[in-house]
Amino acid sequence: ETAIFREPAIEMSFDLIVKGGTLPDGRTADIAVSGDRIAAVEPRIEAEAGRVIDASGCLVSPPFVDPHFHMDATLSYGIPRINASGTLLEGIALWGELKPLLTREAVKERALAYCDWAVSMGLLAIRTHVDTCDDRLLAVEALLEVRKEISPYIDLQLVAFPQDGFYRDPTARQNTIRALDMGVEIVGGIPHFERTMEDGRRSVTELCEIAAERGLMVDLHCDETDDPLSRHVEQLAYETQRLGLQGRVNGSHLTSMHSMDNYYVSKLLPLMAEAEVSAIPNPLINIVLQGRHDTYPRRRGMTRVPEMLKAGIRVGFGQDCVLDPWYSLGTADMLDVAFMGLHVAQMTSPQDMRRCFDMVTRESAAIMGLEDYGLEPGRKASLVVLDAGDPIEAIRLRAERLCVVAGGKVVAERPRRDTALSLPGRPGSVNRRHTV
Ligand code: FE2
Repeated sequence: ETAIFREPAIEMSFDLIVKGGTLPDGRTADIAVSGDRIAAVEPRIEAEAGRVIDASGCLVSPPFVDPHFHMDATLSYGIPRINASGTLLEGIALWGELKPLLTREAVKERALAYCDWAVSMGLLAIRTHVDTCDDRLLAVEALLEVRKEISPYIDLQLVAFPQDGFYRDPTARQNTIRALDMGVEIVGGIPHFERTMEDGRRSVTELCEIAAERGLMVDLHCDETDDPLSRHVEQLAYETQRLGLQGRVNGSHLTSMHSMDNYYVSKLLPLMAEAEVSAIPNPLINIVLQGRHDTYPRRRGMTRVPEMLKAGIRVGFGQDCVLDPWYSLGTADMLDVAFMGLHVAQMTSPQDMRRCFDMVTRESAAIMGLEDYGLEPGRKASLVVLDAGDPIEAIRLRAERLCVVAGGKVVAERPRRDTALSLPGRPGSVNRRHTV
C-alpha cells in the first residue's frame, strides 16, 4: 500500500451556515458565518457548523434598510386624536398637540416595540429623524438610549430634525445644535416649512454649513409639497457643491419635483447628480399626503424616480411613518414600500422591479453609508431568508421572512405558510412561481 501523504485538513467549523439560497444577483450560494461576520460565500461549503439553515429555493438577501423614518412618533396613532384631513399640515399640527404629552419612557417603549416589528421583518438598518423642537429634547434622549440598546441587531442612525422649522420655531436652532452635541449624527431640516422661501433657502445654507463644520451628513425633508415653485433641492445641491459635501447629502421626499416645470427639471437633475445628492422618496406617505388640495386630475405627488435614476442620482425608498399622526397603517415591511414605489413610479420592467428591491436594500444602505453591509466575506453577518425565488417574487408576494440573522445570530424565524386547499383534483400549490 502506498502511503498517501496529505497536508493535515484545515479544521473548518463555523457558527452558522445558510445553505443553498439564491442571492439577489441570481447566484446560488452557501454562506458561512463565524461570530458576527460572514466568513465565506461559496457555491458549496462542506464544513461543520453550530447550526445549518436550509435556504434552498429561497431568496437570501442582505437585510432591509429604511433610510427615512420617524421613530419618535411611531405607534402613537390616535393619541390624542386622528388626522381628519389626512394632510401633512394637519399631521404636523397634531404632532404639536401630542408633543407636550410625551414622556421619555413612552417614546422609548414605542420605539422598542417598533424595533421588534422591524427585526421580525428583516429590517435591520433604519435612519430615523428625531424632532428637536422641544426644549426638553426627551425624544432625543429616548432614541439615543434606543440606538444603544438595539445596536447588536439594528443599525440606527439619528437625524436632528427641527420639525417646526429651524427658524420658524423660536428655539429650534439652539435645540438642533444641542441634539448634535448630544450625539445625534446627521443634520436635518425642513426648508419648505419655514415662513418664507428665503428663510427656507437660508436654512439650507446654515444647516449644510453646520454639517461641513462638524464633518456630518445632511438629510433634509426637502420640498415636501405640491408647490412647483418649492425649489430648495436646488439650493441643497448648490451648498453641497460649495462646501465639498459630495456623497454625504440627501434630499428626502422632493415631492414638489412631481409638479415642477419639465424644462426646469432637465436643468435640476444634472445639478443633483454633479453634487452627488441622493434622494429618498417615501411612496406610501407621498401617495397618501400629496395631492390633497387637488380636485381631479389629482397629482400622485411622488418625485421623479425613473428620471433621477437615469440621471445617475442614487435613490432609496423610505417608509417614513407607521401608525402616527401622518399615516394610519404600516407594518415595518419594506416590501410594502417597494411595492407601492414600483406602482407609483410605474417601474414595471424586470430590470426596474429588481431596482425597486435594491432601493429598499443596498441602495438605501449606500445612502446611509453602511460600510459593513452586504453578503460579502468580512461584512457583518446580517441577512434575511425570504419565501420567494427572487427579488421580483419577493415584491409580488411581500414574501414571508422565514429567517432573520443579525450580527451572526438568528433573531427571528417563522414557518413556511402553505394554504391547504380543499379543491377536488387541485394540489395545494399557491402563489410561488418561478419568475424571470
Ligand atoms: Fe419624514
